Amino acid sequence: MSTIQQILDEASKELSGLTNAEGIEAFRIRFLGKKGKIGELMARIPSLAPAERRQFGADVNKLKSELEIQLAEKKLAISEAPRNPGPVLDMTLPAIAPHAGRLHPLRQTIDEIMAIFSRMGFESVEGPEIETEFHNFTALNIPLQHASRDAFDTFYTTQGRLLRSQTSTVQIRIMQKRKPPLRMIAPGRVYRPDTVDASHSFMFHQIEGLMVDDKVSFSDLKGILHHTLRELFGKDVKVRFRPHFFPFTEPSVEVDLLWGKNRWLEILGAGMVHPKVFEAVGYDPAEVQGFAFGMGVERLAMLRYGIPDIRYFYENDRRFLRQF
Ligand code: PHE
Repeated sequence: MSTIQQILDEASKELSGLTNAEGIEAFRIRFLGKKGKIGELMARIPSLAPAERRQFGADVNKLKSELEIQLAEKKLAISEAPRNPGPVLDMTLPAIAPHAGRLHPLRQTIDEIMAIFSRMGFESVEGPEIETEFHNFTALNIPLQHASRDAFDTFYTTQGRLLRSQTSTVQIRIMQKRKPPLRMIAPGRVYRPDTVDASHSFMFHQIEGLMVDDKVSFSDLKGILHHTLRELFGKDVKVRFRPHFFPFTEPSVEVDLLWGKNRWLEILGAGMVHPKVFEAVGYDPAEVQGFAFGMGVERLAMLRYGIPDIRYFYENDRRFLRQF
């Protein structure tokens, strides 16, 4: 009995040190071969007392199958080990933290402006980015040969359609569909043949505004814009209304914000809706008045957050985006 245990211990120890096929084969011959240790034990059986033979035989057989199993397992381990170490899973490594998303700074700015106008009774609407020439130009009193088409002529698709160059198109669409009184704002993307630099992009965002009623004055426009800019930039914001020209408003202004000590930055165009525009949508200019404005969302966001370059908005760089 003790010989059997000794052989098992010896075999296990030897087996654990084996690393290649030659060692395995030598082991097999030494223990399980015809003249191996197991064979020697078997050969002893006839010389034992008859009463011991049965037990001894059974023990040797058990040893034999135990060694066969261990040998087979070792063979498998050696053949698999170098070729396929398997995936290394280290349970002690820290987990990868999920990145929480957030709203883009432009979306946040648009949402805030929409909220301000919503409190003043303006409904938010949207229009298509691919527009007809009628909505982008003709109805806005910009005839085919008009010089001011130049700055607005953008990317034409098929059938005389183009990417809108201003959200003023939505004024036309809403007035065609509804009767006054109207108070609406329309946020969205616009496209221009502009060369990209720190303050220009071929695509940017505007928020259009339109109010039409039987009596709407320029001072209503001034008051509403002033109020909006105070909500966005604080009570002390310095605003400048500067005479300007737009074909679809008369009179027209551009509005600037004081930035730093003495720099004015243009942030929106506005004016009283031109009678020709009312005619184009079937309103009677003798019966209604209105104002309209279009503000640049990027410029407002840049002023608000102190962003020096418009291109940061479009690069999807998380180092930039996660600051808002
Ligand atoms: N559509 C003009 C622009 O894009 C802005 C504007 C809108 C001016 C409405 C007057 C009235 O520059």
